[in-house]
Amino acid sequence: RKSYKVTVLPGDGIGPEIIGVAVDVLRLVGSQEGINFEFTEKLVGGAAIDELGTPLPEDTLTTCQQSDAVLLAAIGGYKWDKNPRDMKPETGLLGLRAGLGVFANLRPAVVLPQLVDSSTLKREVAEGVDIMVVRELTGGLYFGQPRGFRQESNGERTGYNTMVYSTSEIDRIARVGFETARKRRGKLCSVDKANVLEVSQLWRERVTAMSSEYPDVELSHMYVDNAAMQLIRNPKQFDTIVTGNIFGDIISDEASMLTGSIGMLPSASIGESGPGLYEPIHGSAPDIAGQDKANPLAQILSAAMLLRYALGEENAAQRIEAAVMGALDKGFRTGDIMSPGMEYVGCKKMGDIVLETLESSRPAA
Ligand code: IPM
Ligand code: MN
Repeated sequence: RKSYKVTVLPGDGIGPEIIGVAVDVLRLVGSQEGINFEFTEKLVGGAAIDELGTPLPEDTLTTCQQSDAVLLAAIGGYKWDKNPRDMKPETGLLGLRAGLGVFANLRPAVVLPQLVDSSTLKREVAEGVDIMVVRELTGGLYFGQPRGFRQESNGERTGYNTMVYSTSEIDRIARVGFETARKRRGKLCSVDKANVLEVSQLWRERVTAMSSEYPDVELSHMYVDNAAMQLIRNPKQFDTIVTGNIFGDIISDEASMLTGSIGMLPSASIGESGPGLYEPIHGSAPDIAGQDKANPLAQILSAAMLLRYALGEENAAQRIEAAVMGALDKGFRTGDIMSPGMEYVGCKKMGDIVLETLESSRPAA
């Protein structure tokens, strides 16, 4: 029997509710597929600040580094928003990404046939959208030095950050972009701001140079402002998008909304080696925390990505994805994806329905 160490990070807000459901789903699929999970729960984000006075305790990072994969829910909340930067939940998440070296963040945005009508776009624009955003995750504006605040002699204060990418950082994320596109529909769009920024000019040069190694991938370039527009105008023109940290943050939220709800979308963050980090792309939704209203499906689908990318357990991953589709096919909806004629369920109930659907798909022993 195969056994894997999975570190579980509930984080803040709705985190504990949705991750509890995903862990149950992993246990059940494990029993079906002969996989044993050793789950270790650790603190990160606001929960860790409250308990241990730091958003990323040493012990949390070490445990993550020593596991086969990390399943994270979400971090953050109003309570810590005014804290200094080193005491913000977000700093814990960024430290975790950097500490695990997970430089490539895969964020799929798929419009499911069951949810076409939850999209704010017209059916004919939204139907069939299937985009993969490959976001650089451990560099760029988020990590560039110098950064900080400074007091000017004229009495003003200045806040500043640096957007910086080295050739090796660009090359490794570009490669993930090309490889991802190759396994999909063979189209890669690199998003930058090369008309204004040197960092983007270098980005474009390196991506273009690499394209000779991928004659089967059709490469295009788009300025980020145009990409933001094109995503709404005609999202079906995109297959795989590769972009830097800040542009990817923004573009992936936008892409997620094409699908109707950010509550549906999982993500995988992977590095050169070592455990990857699997998390929904949505936040901790403190406004609905503890009310059993959250949509657990993005977290459950993140668990499926963990099985696929971290553990190579493709069957188990597909089984979970099928169970999620099954729950939607049966007409159950959380608030964020509710539409007329469907049956409203909370987080726990949605989890139970996915578990039942999974259970009834148990292979004959
Ligand atoms: C995300 C989030 C994070 C980010 C925040 C919480 C630091 O928005 O995962 O997209 O900006 O990367
Ligand atoms: Mn974001």
